[in-house]
Amino acid sequence: MFKSEVYTRRREELRKKIKSGIGLLIGNIEAPMNYPDNTYHFRQDSDFLYYFGLDLPGLTGLMDFDSGKDRIFGNDYDMDDIIWMGPQPTIKELAMKCGISDTASISKLEERIKDALSKKRKIHFLPPYRGETKMTLGKLLKENPCQMKTHASVDLIKAVISMRSIKEKVEIDEIEKAVEIAYEMHVTAMKMCKQGVREQDIFGAIEGIALAKGGGTSFPVILSINGQTLHNHSHGNILSKGKMMVTDAGAETNLHYASDITRTTPVGGKFNEKQKDIYEIVLKANTEAIKATKPGMSNRDLHFNACKIITSEMKNLGLMKGDVDEAVAAGAHALFMPHGLGHMMGLDVHDMEALGENFIGYNDEVKRSDQFGTAFLRFALPYKPGHVFTVEPGCYFIPELIAKWKAEGKFKEYINYSKIDGYMSIGGIRIEDNVLITEKGHKVLGKPIPKTVKEVESICS
Ligand code: GLY
Ligand code: MN
Ligand code: MN
Repeated sequence: MFKSEVYTRRREELRKKIKSGIGLLIGNIEAPMNYPDNTYHFRQDSDFLYYFGLDLPGLTGLMDFDSGKDRIFGNDYDMDDIIWMGPQPTIKELAMKCGISDTASISKLEERIKDALSKKRKIHFLPPYRGETKMTLGKLLKENPCQMKTHASVDLIKAVISMRSIKEKVEIDEIEKAVEIAYEMHVTAMKMCKQGVREQDIFGAIEGIALAKGGGTSFPVILSINGQTLHNHSHGNILSKGKMMVTDAGAETNLHYASDITRTTPVGGKFNEKQKDIYEIVLKANTEAIKATKPGMSNRDLHFNACKIITSEMKNLGLMKGDVDEAVAAGAHALFMPHGLGHMMGLDVHDMEALGENFIGYNDEVKRSDQFGTAFLRFALPYKPGHVFTVEPGCYFIPELIAKWKAEGKFKEYINYSKIDGYMSIGGIRIEDNVLITEKGHKVLGKPIPKTVKEVESICS
């Protein structure tokens, strides 16, 4: 974890934003895989990590916004635990690491909440995303556990988002480390991208790098020669000539900061003409979007710029036609790029989405569109210095979507359906980088990962 001052300062900042009531931040507990003692990899709750830094199961942080006192609730390990787990720090010792001296056992939490409820004090909590946390909240607050998400504190959600959105220097250093690990993962995948190799071999190799160099992957690896499926987690194919492999993968550092990088590599390491045509379009959308990234520019404007680049270049190839601005306004480009340009990244790879996407990327003035494609844009607001974003345009040939639109004659004034057939074998292409918004512009994080046609072909050879 970071030094205790980091957490003390963050809690002080939060206290300035929430003036009264109690903040209840429930850390994650172990989640069983198939029987209680056989658990999934433990991942601490990111908001708990942000304010308390303690990376162990079974802890709850309580902030009294009226008195200014913070307390950690947790149970000390007993001899039985120590026999199986080895010597463990006490809850007091742990709490001191995040600048808190007041601790109590978990059984005292119920009393404390009961007391607060009897005094009609406001209890601020964040939307729970795990069944275990919903159950705990329901029990503590004497409410239906299934309704805990809707009872969450909007004031606390907004306060947390305002803080976590702006990354501190120590956080940016961590994200840089996470991108460095992703460099190793992606270069390894590119070098292994040869005819006859199994997707699973490459998946296992890069997952191993994430585990060896950090805290594992930041989300389940997407790796497939069927890149037209945007989040393809099945790795059962054998790489064959003429296909392209989409690898969308990132790592967590040991402190759980994420990277999220995508590269698309032709099997065998050499692009054919059609692959190059589409790849250069996606690359242009990626590099032009990065170039334009600066404070004040909105992620929505940048998204539409990227969509216009893709539309205009697809028009040059003969796959689209008509007026580019009109085609994008109508949503015709979404046949080829049905997702948003990018999302925030930090302690979560899609940062803070558990708090509600519309609280992060939209507000009272900027509302989410319900148009197909644009509706998937996770963030529409202007960038601020300290934001960290992904920039990830893509171009996909999704047989089912193309067949449906073609049968409906949808956007036939903008799409040359007869020309698409020749490109179907490409599957999908996505290129994703991680960018910090600085005072004057932006910085692409981490060591540059091969991206141009020349760089990819060179690393593959
Ligand atoms: N890693 C999934 C995404 O790029 O959003
Ligand atoms: Mn990604
Ligand atoms: Mn992403």
